[in-house]
Amino acid sequence: MLEFQEKVINESNQGAAYQPFESDPNQYSKHFYIESYGCQMNFNDSEIVASILQEEGFGATKYLEQANLILLNTCSIREKAEQTVRNRLQIFRSLKKENPGLVIGVLGCMAERLKAKFLEEEKLVDIVVGPDAYRTLPSLIVEAEGGQKAVNVLLSREETYADIAPVRLDSNGVSAFVSIMRGCNNMCTFCVVPFTRGRERSRDVASILAEAQDLFDKGYREVTLLGQNVDSYHFVPNDESAAVVTFATLLERVALISPKLRVRFSTSHPKDITDDVLFTMAKYDNICKYIHLPVQSGSTRVLQLMNRTYTKEWYMKKVERIKEIMPHCALSSDVITGFCTETEEDHQETLAVMEHANYDLSYMFAYSERPGTLAQRRYDDDVPEDVKKRRLTEVIELQNKMTRANYNAEIGKTFEVLIENTSKRSER
Ligand code: SAH
Ligand code: SF4
Ligand code: F3S
Repeated sequence: MLEFQEKVINESNQGAAYQPFESDPNQYSKHFYIESYGCQMNFNDSEIVASILQEEGFGATKYLEQANLILLNTCSIREKAEQTVRNRLQIFRSLKKENPGLVIGVLGCMAERLKAKFLEEEKLVDIVVGPDAYRTLPSLIVEAEGGQKAVNVLLSREETYADIAPVRLDSNGVSAFVSIMRGCNNMCTFCVVPFTRGRERSRDVASILAEAQDLFDKGYREVTLLGQNVDSYHFVPNDESAAVVTFATLLERVALISPKLRVRFSTSHPKDITDDVLFTMAKYDNICKYIHLPVQSGSTRVLQLMNRTYTKEWYMKKVERIKEIMPHCALSSDVITGFCTETEEDHQETLAVMEHANYDLSYMFAYSERPGTLAQRRYDDDVPEDVKKRRLTEVIELQNKMTRANYNAEIGKTFEVLIENTSKRSER
């Protein structure tokens, strides 16, 4: 039971993790070590970085001591995520003392948020690179090897790394992530992502299909299409006579690669998921009947302050529509407790909406004020920390109860399953 509870509680979609993998050690004279934090998009970015570095003659190592280059791909979503990165950097300090030639780079959202300030705050860092500047890593490494500090945090309106084949890190050879877009235009007031990832842009449909087909040919049997807001995928082909590709069309085209390829996607913004997407899901057996539909709060007043652009009633109707089209569709959510001005009544409304939606899983967080966001500039972070935590506990307890009941309701049923790996228990 404990394991199951941990699964619900831990922040596994934005948590910390290592990406141990190794190239043939004899093939490369230089080695890099990379650790990734944050969301799946960040993990996928590390796979793009690995590809760029291998082209430059850097092999991957899973041993810190072997590395000439250490990279941290960072997350800024909550203060705790940034603290984890700072703690990791402390550990690298001693390695740098022993090996002054060692180059340490910070990538990702925290690099973008702090920019050159990072170099002042963390003296041992040599390179700071934002999410849209990974193609310049090789030249930045050369600068750093020459003893200079190197920074590139330019955001782009075009970069999608469409032509770079990711080197699959820590892969089980069965499921893989495919980024379909970058950035976010949604300006939720609590969120740092629009500032760290820039404007939304959709990746060329042909490159997405080619990557998914290639994965299938290599034996992969599940792809998850990734974006901060996949439902606003919108690709305009160069050929003016060709139709614009929406997310529903993309989903269908990926599903058509093979009935044996399972297709998933994340994340949907409730305001953008269309009936077209729902009908496409229902039409193809190989599109998994699961939607991550973050609610954030159940109070219309708080949702407005968050700039989520839907009301409680609108959200609940969306849930009903999903169940109407796919009665057994699994649902999960993200919930924030203790956002600015949240009252006890608002909190009760969140619990009520969670029960109504009967989520199978939720990722739940206490509100963490992020510098530069609209909420930080406009509102007081006025819910005391102990109240945020108590509400979070209540939200988690409700989710655990629902998850358990939903799992129990499946007992005795037969499902087709995809075997991804040997379970930890079996290995014991
Ligand atoms: N577009 C993505 C957002 C990624 S951030 C999505 O909708 O999933 C993932 C989640 O982190 C958000 O949905 C939100 O619940 C949570 N989050 C974002 N900013 C936060 C903050 N400042 N404090 C607490 N949780 C936050
Ligand atoms: Fe952040 Fe909102 Fe964009 Fe998600 S949709 S990344 S929560 S601004
Ligand atoms: Fe974190 Fe950036 Fe993802 S802030 S959640 S790594 S987009």
